[in-house]
Amino acid sequence: MLTKKNAAERIMVALDYPTAQAAERLIEQLQGIPCWMKVGLQLFYAAGPQFVSALKERGYKVFLDVKMHDIPNTVKGGAESVTKLGVDMFNVHAAGGKRMMQAALEGADKGAGGVSGSAKPLVIAVTQLTSTSQTVMNEEIGISGSVERAVIRYAKLAQEAGLHGVVASPHEAVSIKGACGNTFLAITPGIRPEGADIGDQSRVMTPAEAFRQGSDYIVIGRPVTAAPEPRQALESIIESIISV
Ligand code: C5P
Repeated sequence: MLTKKNAAERIMVALDYPTAQAAERLIEQLQGIPCWMKVGLQLFYAAGPQFVSALKERGYKVFLDVKMHDIPNTVKGGAESVTKLGVDMFNVHAAGGKRMMQAALEGADKGAGGVSGSAKPLVIAVTQLTSTSQTVMNEEIGISGSVERAVIRYAKLAQEAGLHGVVASPHEAVSIKGACGNTFLAITPGIRPEGADIGDQSRVMTPAEAFRQGSDYIVIGRPVTAAPEPRQALESIIESIISV
């Protein structure tokens, strides 16, 4: 049984907005709820490091969802920079390979402490994007076999590199935990409360079921951001998981 605070601390609200002002409107409505804030490519490219710093000043935990994928030296530099911003979690593509993932950890080590005083963030791998169908993965990307097998292989590679967990569908949480152990984190988007609009997600799960399946954190966007009453929507999600 979770307290309301513990439950809120396991929810990441996806701030998928084009400007800082648009994100601010939501943040004001959610004031006082200790959820994480997830900043993705759209908002980070528009509002940048200042926006992340402002979230940190307000006491939020921040997941910077920028999915780094480049040569190891460049990823190391990127990891150092985002660590200095004080983010609590960021991610890289497992497809960049073990050496690249290790470079992300080295960059995080380098950016932590020192003048910035930043703590070391959790570094998470993106496995196979949930938008990739098996046909696209096999025929366009050139990876054979099932998506599930590719996800598990990437998760194990990320663990070997020393990463802390993966972003994955909640439908894959059980097999990821089976392959990598319980302490390897599963961060799961594709969450929809009972009766919510599915939007462009295909395989969804309710918040309570996602935690029962082993998710450590759930990522929720539109069920909160597009709700007529976002605060009420988030509070009812929190209520639905405190008994899990
Ligand atoms: O609005 P919705 O709840 O579908 O938002 C889900 C969030 O999680 C979005 O920010 C999306 O980019 C992210 N995400 C996802 N599937 C992945 C990885 C990230 O939906 N595999």
